[in-house]
Amino acid sequence: MSISQILTLTALATGAVAQLKSCSNNGTLSCQSSSKAPTCCYNYPGGALLQTQFWDSDPSTGPSDSWTIHGLWPDNCDGTYQSSCDSSRAYTNISAILKEQNRDDLLSYMDTYWVNNDGSNEEFWEHEWSKHGTCINTIKPSCYNNYTPQEEVGDFFQQVVDLFKNLDTYQALSSAGITPDDSKTYELSDIQSALSKLHGGLEPYVGCEDDSLDQVYYFFNVAGNAIDGQYVPAAPLEKSNCPSSGIKYSPKSSN
Ligand SMILES: *[C@@H]1O[C@H](CO)[C@@H](O)[C@H](O)[C@H]1NC(C)=O
Ligand SMILES: *[C@@H]1O[C@H](CO)[C@@H](O)[C@H](O)[C@H]1NC(C)=O
Repeated sequence: MSISQILTLTALATGAVAQLKSCSNNGTLSCQSSSKAPTCCYNYPGGALLQTQFWDSDPSTGPSDSWTIHGLWPDNCDGTYQSSCDSSRAYTNISAILKEQNRDDLLSYMDTYWVNNDGSNEEFWEHEWSKHGTCINTIKPSCYNNYTPQEEVGDFFQQVVDLFKNLDTYQALSSAGITPDDSKTYELSDIQSALSKLHGGLEPYVGCEDDSLDQVYYFFNVAGNAIDGQYVPAAPLEKSNCPSSGIKYSPKSSN
């Protein structure tokens, strides 16, 4: 047993488990209040949280019947965003942190569904955490009771994965007859309408590269903190860059 595991067990035994301060007032819904005071229960200025996904077909990454995770990005409710908010927490050991926190299942899920198309997965996760994760004000160390260093890092990655698991883009498209097929093209409105069924009737942002479907961003406002709070689907803050018709959806190469 490692020192950190012993410390964790000791913490459990004494009830001193690190956790985010509770938001018993249910929190104010981010982006929907005029309040400009960031608190541990109110995401500000990054009040819109975007669960972003990729469809990487060239080169292909991830399972051929699933989109993959890009990240969770705080946006200032207007299409602008802060980035790289705390260099002191720009960790270069995400895998080690997750292992130390006994989050092995999370790590193996990420190795399948949160993959880099140009470098190591670890590098991609470090980038997503330091550029975007450190800007989520409700998961700062000061928002924890009995904070243990890097606790918020594990909470962040778990939350992104939990959101992703409820946003199965591949399945939603496939249920509407929209499947990867080089001999077909699709209408933007059909893609948006299929995906809005996953998202409280609200369209996500749909992105294309060279008329080929390659990204989706699901926008949320959050009541409470970004981990325990309630994620409420929100309308996109960006307009799709896809053409209205003739959209390609290329199969991933099986390798
Ligand atoms: C919290 O939720 C309860 C039950 O849904 C509601 O009655 C109450 O008004 C909410 N409080 C705040 C501050 O939103
Ligand atoms: C990860 O890196 C940070 C910063 O260097 C360090 O404080 C922490 O102990 C490291 N954690 C693990 C599990 O290696």
